[in-house]
Amino acid sequence: MKALITAGGKGTRLRPLTHTQNKHLIPIANKPILHYALEKVAAAGITEVGITTHQAGNEVKEALGAGERWGLNITYIPQEEPLGLAHVVKISRNFIGDEPFIFYLGDNMVVGGLEKFIAAFYEAKSNCHLTLSRVKDPERFGVPELKDNRIIAIEEKPAHPKSAFAVSGIYIYDSSIFQAVNNIKPSARGELEISDAHQYLLDHNYSISYSEITGWWKDTGKPEDILEANRLILEHTQSRVAGSVDKLSLVTGEVVIEEGAQIINSVLRGPIVIGKNTIVDNSFIGPFTSIGDNCTIKKSEVEFSIVLNQCEITDVGVRIESSLLGAGARVVKATVRPKTHRFMVGDQSLIEIR
Ligand code: DAU
Repeated sequence: MKALITAGGKGTRLRPLTHTQNKHLIPIANKPILHYALEKVAAAGITEVGITTHQAGNEVKEALGAGERWGLNITYIPQEEPLGLAHVVKISRNFIGDEPFIFYLGDNMVVGGLEKFIAAFYEAKSNCHLTLSRVKDPERFGVPELKDNRIIAIEEKPAHPKSAFAVSGIYIYDSSIFQAVNNIKPSARGELEISDAHQYLLDHNYSISYSEITGWWKDTGKPEDILEANRLILEHTQSRVAGSVDKLSLVTGEVVIEEGAQIINSVLRGPIVIGKNTIVDNSFIGPFTSIGDNCTIKKSEVEFSIVLNQCEITDVGVRIESSLLGAGARVVKATVRPKTHRFMVGDQSLIEIR
């Protein structure tokens, strides 16, 4: 079985971070989102992986290379425009061939392995195996209508969902999906929708089976999803201290401190990860926080946040919480008069002041 993973799309809901970075490379617990997908695919014994990217974007390829790190052989498949998930499948026909394959949305995070879904697909002998997850806001997703434990219809982002389930971004198909993606028409928003391809299969008497994801599953489309995924991953963190912690500091809970990091006269309350060569001085880092490499945090408090590489946070009078700081961002005390709030903010940023 091969795997097809998405790493294209626009990432509009994660601007400004996605102005300068592909959203699939945003780190969760200091590891790019896409790494989690690749680890799971490799653990399921799959070696041939196709990754679809924007035509212009080379950064995913630069970040992942040929996949040796995971024992994978990665083929990059350019998508000229984000024309929809069914379009992604359509353009990957040559890479996939005729064998069944797993289609994995690169911005999805799930707990546990893929093996059970693959086994369920073979056991059901279906044409398509979907994974469903119970959610509070099904209108954001593809939503199945169920009857007697069977999927009888699927709608994309319906205003009035027919169940409390989302179709999550892990799908297993046999080659009949190509007939579906080649015969559907673009939706009102101009995309070839994967839900329309599923509906096509149902309408043409192909069988769709499903598994329910009972642990957590996250589509990391929005900033709050990224913070929540970070929290969930950090919950499973185990302490590892390669950097230095001075005697005046107090560290509790599960804490990863990477090589070269220095913790000086500070309180760290895990679970947290602190990247390489980062300095935390006279500060408090609270639970569910990931701080990247080469950051400086002085006389400040940060909790439930993601701070990317090379950031500086100095002498900020209030605790920073539920925040996402892009690489190289600086939040510092104003040192010259007038002592006002002074912003140098990128396009589509959000600043909330108490
Ligand atoms: O996360 C599950 C949901 O994913 C499903 O419930 C929906 O049925 C499905 O349509 C999809 O909805 P999203 O609105 O979340 O899809 P999004 O546009 O965020 O794209 C998902 C992934 O696919 C992401 O990795 C970006 C990538 N992508 C997307 C499009 C539209 C591409 O690579 N190319 C594309 O043309």
